[in-house]
Amino acid sequence: MNAQLQQTLDARAVDTLDFVKVTELAALAASRWMGRGERDIADGAAVEKMREALNEMNIAGRIVIGEGERDEAPMLYIGEELGRGGLAVDIAVDPVEGTNLVANGLPNSIAVMAIAERGGLLHAPDSYMQKLAVGPKAAAYVHLDAPVRDNLEAVANAYERPINDVTVVILDRPRHHDLIQEVRAAGARIRLISDGDVDASIATAIEGTGIHVAMGIGGAPEGVLAAAALKCLGGGFQGRLKPRSEEEAARARAMGFGDLDRVLTFDDLVQSKTVVFVATGITDGDLVRGVRFYGNSARTHSILIHSPSGTVRFIESVHRLGARPSSIS
Ligand code: FBP
Repeated sequence: MNAQLQQTLDARAVDTLDFVKVTELAALAASRWMGRGERDIADGAAVEKMREALNEMNIAGRIVIGEGERDEAPMLYIGEELGRGGLAVDIAVDPVEGTNLVANGLPNSIAVMAIAERGGLLHAPDSYMQKLAVGPKAAAYVHLDAPVRDNLEAVANAYERPINDVTVVILDRPRHHDLIQEVRAAGARIRLISDGDVDASIATAIEGTGIHVAMGIGGAPEGVLAAAALKCLGGGFQGRLKPRSEEEAARARAMGFGDLDRVLTFDDLVQSKTVVFVATGITDGDLVRGVRFYGNSARTHSILIHSPSGTVRFIESVHRLGARPSSIS
């Protein structure tokens, strides 16, 4: 299967650009709702478009990370089969990563998707995950269980710069109070973000973003998406499940996570050798620009990464639009 996915994608039997169209359509739909205070409607619009687009592809796709379990999500639920048939792939999606960011018109919301061979992506429970993400230069020198100062010193050394030239992204949450103090004590710079740790994690591996480390606790499914991109980019990602309740812990154990304290590496999170990762900006961000509308056309900006080559493509598309839907005109 691995070889087949590799061959098929390399032979362009499934054009990886078709995956870009999927996130483009989701981003276009969600971005109409930018700043309108309607996170669920923005998400619903993107979910519908993403599902439609996946259903038109010549794949036998199966959602492994999506909008939730079948009983709680009508579309893009975990286990949903999508596509016209063909290449068998597992798909992780987040049609709107950063629903509050879209609702409030804030930066760094993306429509995002990772595609791998069957069984190649961890089926992460709907729980939290402690995460550590770094770019390729620092990947070999950090560990989730190392003291924060040691990790930051290692990153500074890897980038051949003083620690106060290292920038760390952390979700602005009360649970990160101690972490923030530790990073400040070590002397690194911090960018606190209100949401969107997938974008931040990937930005560590893209030169020019000015982001070197992403750390802290966020969503576990988002962790798998970030890990898929970082694996393609040769970066580093480690995680540990952090259930919010005994019920979540029990569910994780039932899903096969015996030792919840275990550090999850690429071997657990993204087993697939061949991965396609794609994201389109909804609002402007560190990785990609947001959707811009020009009356009868719109411009989208996406990132497409394909392992094992690790080639990163930034794709700018101009879409001709039909009449605007009256409900959001
Ligand atoms: P949504 O797209 O579901 O709104 O998630 C945004 C996000 O900020 C993620 O990037 C992050 O992993 C998670 O929420 C953090 O969860 P919480 O808001 O509960 O701290």
